[in-house]
Amino acid sequence: WAPKGRGLWRYATMLPLRDGVSLGEGQTPLVKSNLDGHLYVKFEGANPTGSFKDRGMALGVTVAKESGASKVVVASTGNTAASAAAYAARAGLKCYVVLPRGNVARGKLMQAALHGAELLMVSGLFDKALEYVVTHGTRYAYPLNSFNPWRLEGQKTLAFEVYEELGCPDYVVVPVGNAGNIAAIWKGFKELGELGLCKKLPKMVGVQAEGAAPLANAWQRGLKEPLFIDEPETVATAIKIGKPINWPKAMAAVRESGGFFIAVSDGEILKAQRLLASRDGIGAEPAGAASVAAALKLKLNGTVVAVVTGHALKDPDAVEINAREVRNAEELVELLEK
Ligand code: F0G
Repeated sequence: WAPKGRGLWRYATMLPLRDGVSLGEGQTPLVKSNLDGHLYVKFEGANPTGSFKDRGMALGVTVAKESGASKVVVASTGNTAASAAAYAARAGLKCYVVLPRGNVARGKLMQAALHGAELLMVSGLFDKALEYVVTHGTRYAYPLNSFNPWRLEGQKTLAFEVYEELGCPDYVVVPVGNAGNIAAIWKGFKELGELGLCKKLPKMVGVQAEGAAPLANAWQRGLKEPLFIDEPETVATAIKIGKPINWPKAMAAVRESGGFFIAVSDGEILKAQRLLASRDGIGAEPAGAASVAAALKLKLNGTVVAVVTGHALKDPDAVEINAREVRNAEELVELLEK
């Protein structure tokens, strides 16, 4: 533990690699929320491509490059695709993204296209796209989904940043889709604990959308395995996932930490998104606001860090836009005087 320098590589001594591909990911804002006295928002939308995935891609793409791969592949609900596309471009690798047609937010598609990835659209949802990558993609290209452990090594650095600024909070609330990030963050805190830095480890709270809650549903019923869903449904397309591949790691993280899983409704997610934007000045995509929705619903005692995983610009269609027509200066003045 000897943080030095900027970005994710500040924690090089805690990582399996000392240096690598970087776009300046990490060191995202930790903002004290106006919504609740105990709530802090870790705004991962401030990463280079607008989501936490950049932490994992810095490591993952470095390993892909160093192992001599020329191609990388991901299945994605969008953010992984945008991030992989940018980091692959930086490293000079070809990037294939397998996406569920009609289920990827516009900003994310645009990013993957802009960074020069090959966009491969499949019918079906994310779970289908991931199955294709696992069964076929990995034979032809280096996979960068979160079953790749290097991804999680990068993503664990969020814990180090929270620790440096705030110490160890009582709760860390994380939106859960394919269930990698919550496991990664827990790994980071555990490593701080092993070094004697974190005396009391936080409880990890995994948040899913009600219509896509294989883990939260199972948790509520006291089951040890998720209740997979064939047709998940939620406005938060980033976490519209019925069969999370990392479920064993996520279950372990929640259980070991003494935390729990919870589901929030689409209404609660959109309400939290609006509150976060209008009261805290933080623009989150719906999945990112799910953690805040849960934190507001739970009213936990102690310090709570809600991880806001992605930027509002990712999903412009999730927000209703109201604007007024102004025909002349008088009308403008009239409106301004109100
Ligand atoms: N929040 C956002 C904004 C995401 O994009 C994702 C996952 C999650 C939360 C959940 O993280 O999968 O580690 O539990 N997005 C993936 C993707 C699935 O393809 O971009 P997780």
